[in-house]
This record gives sequence, structure tokens and C-alpha cells, in this order.
Amino acid sequence: MRISKVLVSAEQIQDRIAALGARITEDYRGKDLLLVAVLKGAFMVMADLSRHIALPVDMDFMAVSSYGESTRTSGVVRILKDLDREISGRHVLIVEDIIDSGLTLQYLRRNLEVRRPASLEIAALLLKAGLQMTPVQVRYVGFEIPADFVIGYGLDYHGKYRNLPYVAVMEENGAAEPPVQL
Ligand code: IMP
Ligand code: MG
Repeated sequence: MRISKVLVSAEQIQDRIAALGARITEDYRGKDLLLVAVLKGAFMVMADLSRHIALPVDMDFMAVSSYGESTRTSGVVRILKDLDREISGRHVLIVEDIIDSGLTLQYLRRNLEVRRPASLEIAALLLKAGLQMTPVQVRYVGFEIPADFVIGYGLDYHGKYRNLPYVAVMEENGAAEPPVQL
């Protein structure tokens, strides 16, 4: 597998995240907002999105893992790191990098809902259109993308490429190196 083309440029990502941040600012004005990012992939979205939310937000992080290291989701999710604090009565916004089958988020949503937050919504930078095996209600979506395996902007292939400022597609016959020099 090699990197092939840039799917969403750094500039497109930044523009979209700024717009989402502005919407979130309006939607949560006067509310106690807690951003919950799902590690590791969402660390980049969290860092950029939070800087476009003009509210005194709180942040927490969860780390989850599907069993195995395959590029497909098994649907079995393991919590590697739970939230530091309780979320009961708080407005929680889950920040995700990408939704593929939707199984990870379905699990997370159920897991967090029993803790009785005042509200629970999802913001995801990328949504693989048509692939959701379970209907996930995602309030804020950055981009709908095709079903290809993508890397960059937090997303990895065997742990690498998370630091690319853009989202690119992996393909069999792509270039050996990232198309843009860091
Ligand atoms: P889902 O449970 O199938 O929705 O998968 C969600 C998780 O799988 C994401 O949070 C990513 O960590 C990972 N993932 C899904 N698709 C991709 C991809 O194209 N590239 C890199 N990671 C992916
Ligand atoms: Mg993830």
C-alpha cells in the first residue's frame, strides 16, 4: 500500500473546521460544554476544532481500540483509557476523526449515554458515505468521502502518517512518499 492522491487538502480541512467551530460556538453558547476526543486519531481534529470554539470548553480524552490491527473494524471495542471525570449533567460533544462502519461510535454513544450527560452529540471530520452498518446520528460532519482507506490528519496506516496536514488515499500503486513534503 502506498500513498496516492490528496483527498482533502490542508486548506479545505482548516476552512471546514473553522466553520464547524463557529456553529458549535453558537449551538453551545451559555452551556457547559465538554469535548471528548477519541484517541489517537482525533487528536488533530480536537486541537484545531477546539481553537475555533469561542467558549470556555472543557476537554477529556478516551482511547479505544478495535481488537486486532486490521484496516477493517471488528465491532468489538476495548476501552484503553476512560474519561478522567464524570459527565452526568454535562453537554458532551464527542470529537472523532472518521466514521466508517459506525460501530466504534455506536459503542461509545451507548457507553456514555448510561452516564447521563445533559446532551450527547458527535462531531466527525470524515464520514465514509454509505458504509455505516448502524445508523449514527452525527450532528457535525466535516466531509463525506468515498469508501477508500485514508491517512493523514490524525489517521494512520500501521501507526504512521498521522502528522500529514491533509487527508490522502492509500492505494496499491501510489507514490512511495507523501505527495507533499513536510
Ligand atoms: P468504525 O468503527 O468502522 O466507524 O471505524 C472507526 C475507526 O476506525 C476510526 O476512528 C479510525 O480509527 C479507524 N478507521 C476507519 N477508517 C479508517 C481509514 O480510512 N483510515 C484510518 N483509520 C480508519
Ligand atoms: Mg478513531
